[in-house]
Amino acid sequence: MPDQPLDLPLEKTPRHVAIIMDGNGRWAISRGLPRLAGHKAGTENLRRIIRASVEFGVKYLTIYAFSTENWGRPPEEVDGLMHILEDVIDRELAELDKEGVQLRHIGRLERLAPTLQEKVLDAIDATRNNNRLILNVAFNYGGRDEIVQAIQHMMKDGVQPEKVTDEMVSQYMYTAGVPDPDLIIRTSGELRVSNFLIWQAAYSEWYITPTFWPDFNKEEYRHALQVYAQRNRRYGGISNVVANKSNG
Ligand code: FPP
Repeated sequence: MPDQPLDLPLEKTPRHVAIIMDGNGRWAISRGLPRLAGHKAGTENLRRIIRASVEFGVKYLTIYAFSTENWGRPPEEVDGLMHILEDVIDRELAELDKEGVQLRHIGRLERLAPTLQEKVLDAIDATRNNNRLILNVAFNYGGRDEIVQAIQHMMKDGVQPEKVTDEMVSQYMYTAGVPDPDLIIRTSGELRVSNFLIWQAAYSEWYITPTFWPDFNKEEYRHALQVYAQRNRRYGGISNVVANKSNG
């Protein structure tokens, strides 16, 4: 079937999409496979969704690949996820670079093996001039940890309490300079924030689907963007329709 064009008015395409790629484990178990096979299938899917993001004109994509809480998983699964990150960089970097993807990392690098840290930093450096899509990889990331670090940095910088503003706090986050996510997608039907972008998600729209991440394909992604385009974002105010009616 030929790809259908994404038929959205441009101003309605989310600039920043963030994804909680959940359900890899259940996807694998439901097929009688080990959990890591689910993460591998999830990685294949990620490649498709990155490509679709470029095609759909999404400018920022943030993916939750490993949380600060994921260290509590069995060691072979933690190791497997570390290897996946390494493999993705080894195998995909040239292609991502060719597609104009700029890689960034959010989270703490310091608990990763030194060779992996170096690999991540090199990949960030190699793609720093690309601007078709900014891909933020949340790896060893926790939203509360990010906020704690931001407060620590502000205090170290000697910021006076009365000078602290919403904008300033944003500048101390890993995502400084990146617009807040317009749309957050969570696969596998869980109704939780899971410590993901808790500062930045204040006014994000959510799309939650029962689909497990490895099965969340381009068509459903397109559907999620279309659902988003129908939303009336009010940021705590009232909708234009209501406002116009009450104006007479
Ligand atoms: C959640 O599913 C998924 C993760 C913790 C890992 C996500 C990682 C990938 C999709 C691989 C891509 C990774 C990189 C480094 C680019 P789950 O295991 O919690 O699923 P479950 O809830 O069904 O057990």
